[in-house]
Amino acid sequence: MHWRSLAIRIALPVSWRLFHNRRADTLQRFAVTEADSAWHFLYALSHVDQPAIRARLFNNALEEMHHSGLFERAARDAAETLIHLPTAERTVIYDAQKGLQHFYAFVYVGEKDVYDQFDAYARAIDTESVSAIFSNLKQDEAGHMQFAEQRLAALDLNRSTVLRQVRAIRRWRLLEAWGRGLRQASDLIMTLLLSAIYFSLGALGRASYGQAQEAARLARVAGDLRR
Ligand SMILES: [Fe+2]
Ligand SMILES: [Fe+2]
Repeated sequence: MHWRSLAIRIALPVSWRLFHNRRADTLQRFAVTEADSAWHFLYALSHVDQPAIRARLFNNALEEMHHSGLFERAARDAAETLIHLPTAERTVIYDAQKGLQHFYAFVYVGEKDVYDQFDAYARAIDTESVSAIFSNLKQDEAGHMQFAEQRLAALDLNRSTVLRQVRAIRRWRLLEAWGRGLRQASDLIMTLLLSAIYFSLGALGRASYGQAQEAARLARVAGDLRR
């Protein structure tokens, strides 16, 4: 997703500078997403029999919780006011009817996406300690992606079936990302419009007040001259 990385690198520094608490909100959103990923690994684990795979899924869940903790701490450090994020309803990735191959295909696409996003955030963020979180965690995400790839290969499925599934998941995530991007862009435009109206009204008010003061001063001078 090249356009997305580019958009992050251009828009993030501006938006973090312009909007109060945006930095903390973004980091907290990552904390929530990472904790959610841990939940999905644990949920899938309960449907797997092989101990080695269960151990690997558990390890992935632990890593996601560790990521969540790092983002949570960074969000708290950056927060200027209380952080309040509405939490969206969870959509369960593991679907018993679609089976584990669908889950692994989803993990493969999702982790690749996260890896690219972390890379873009690491480059866009100017605070060394926060940028380092993203660049360090990229390696864990690459590990989760490789794990999903290995599991897909081990399931010995038809290659074209897997590719079709991966492409369908990518399209779905792309549409979701576009929807989210459009919502964020409309929020941004609305905030800019409201700020413009606020500053215009302020300037108008200041000009009217100046004129009123000038009129009062002239009236006082005219009064003094008549006396
Ligand atoms: Fe993660
Ligand atoms: Fe991950």
